[in-house]
Amino acid sequence: MVLALPQRLQTERLVLRRHRRDDAPAIAEALADWEVARWLARLPIPYTLPDAVSWIRTATRNWNQATDYQFVVAETDDDRLVGHMGVRIEPGGTEGEFGYWFDRQVWGRGYASEAGHEILRFAFDELGLQRVTAVVLPDNERSARVVLKLGLTPDGYRRQRFDPIDATVDAPVYAITRRQWQDLQAG
Ligand SMILES: CC(C)(COP(=O)(O)OP(=O)(O)OC[C@H]1O[C@@H](n2cnc3c(N)ncnc32)[C@H](O)[C@@H]1OP(=O)(O)O)[C@@H](O)C(=O)NCCC(=O)NCCS
Repeated sequence: MVLALPQRLQTERLVLRRHRRDDAPAIAEALADWEVARWLARLPIPYTLPDAVSWIRTATRNWNQATDYQFVVAETDDDRLVGHMGVRIEPGGTEGEFGYWFDRQVWGRGYASEAGHEILRFAFDELGLQRVTAVVLPDNERSARVVLKLGLTPDGYRRQRFDPIDATVDAPVYAITRRQWQDLQAG
């Protein structure tokens, strides 16, 4: 059992925090953008405000049940929601799957890389996971770039359903082990 987990993480420009009910409109707006939604695995399309409200309930319950730790990513200056990132615990409890999206307005500022570094630290240092994976659609070059920059490496393929594009795909898996993460931090 994981004790005294931080409820809020901080990076240079971003705060990663738990959901609040008033996050729903910003989540609904960001995920109504097909350029964001089309890369995600499990998402109702079209994505509406009630979907966001229901997601916040689910995310809160999952966190409390220690099965999935999803954070809102907000800019530190004004707490504006700009994205979403987290790690879902795999059955067995030693591995996690990393997932994220950012509002298109903020792409290209290095936010996913900055938040991702902190989520990996959370996954290994706070949750004590042994391995973290990410499943990325084959043509999602931006996302592949983010995971490679964070130190994940290609680790085969997983046949996975992607609801928004209504397809089941052999998607590339990227992975990093606890040892690899520690070696990277040691420089
Ligand atoms: C993938 C995503 C999270 C990246 O967010 P971001 O904050 O823009 O990411 P960063 O700025 O940290 O890094 C993006 C990297 O991709 C690179 N990039 C941008 N456009 C690219 C393109 N068309 N092809 C390849 N690389 C590209 C950037 O140059 C940058 O790499 P660099 O730092 O080496 O220059 C964001 O685009 C997004 O939300 N996409 C939709 C949802 C999604 O794909 N989620 C992940 C599912 S696995």
